[in-house]
Amino acid sequence: MTQLAIIGGTGLTSLEGLDIHEKRTVITPYGKPSSELLFGNFHGQSVIFLPRHGGGHTVPPHRINYRANISALHQVGVEKIIAIAAVGGIRDDLPPGCLAVADQIIDYTYGREQSFYSDDFSSDKHLDFSYPYDEPLRQALLQAGKRLNIAIVDGGTYGATQGPRLETAAEIKRMAQDGCAMVGMTGMPEAYLARELNIQYATCALMVNWAAGLSEGIITMAEIEQTLAGGMAQVKQILADVIQSQ
Ligand code: HPA
Repeated sequence: MTQLAIIGGTGLTSLEGLDIHEKRTVITPYGKPSSELLFGNFHGQSVIFLPRHGGGHTVPPHRINYRANISALHQVGVEKIIAIAAVGGIRDDLPPGCLAVADQIIDYTYGREQSFYSDDFSSDKHLDFSYPYDEPLRQALLQAGKRLNIAIVDGGTYGATQGPRLETAAEIKRMAQDGCAMVGMTGMPEAYLARELNIQYATCALMVNWAAGLSEGIITMAEIEQTLAGGMAQVKQILADVIQSQ
């Protein structure tokens, strides 16, 4: 059986229902991951859980050591990653509470370490990234939604912004023109680093707010938290189902 990991984001810093049998501190050549790796059983399947922002949600998106996180998972034999992301909805059909399995990425981040090969580069390390997500894993997430009768939108471009601030209305307007369907702060370089280590990677995104300028007024944490609670309950159902199929 392939070893599967779940990277949890905002609203999923712990995985309720995970029967943890080991917490392992892994040190990588790139430093320390956001947290110890939690090895456990989730609905009868072996999984490894890593909270992207740390157990106490103290690591902001621009400070996450993405290389250490992915390298640590690779070191312990992970071959598949399901990434969970709380994002802002840009496209009309992605209102708060909606789930989507992204199929493309535009990277607006800067200053983040983008590669494991920065200090040891050669021309063969320009890897293909035309299709940033693993299609079978995307389909597995969509199938889980179908089985559970939970609506999940198939596809959409994830625009990765630097954070930790939310975007301006003008930035979102530009991102919409670029073709972004949703906006989050952690999708890159996480997805590419997984590709570099040949780890199958897909993201299940939960819209927690309309992106800046797309609703009346400003974005509040209260609004986000309210949507997170209900939405993450659905995400956990999907995770419980999808890992049975892996
Ligand atoms: N922008 C960026 N990241 C986010 C948002 C947003 O509106 N909502 C949740 N994560």
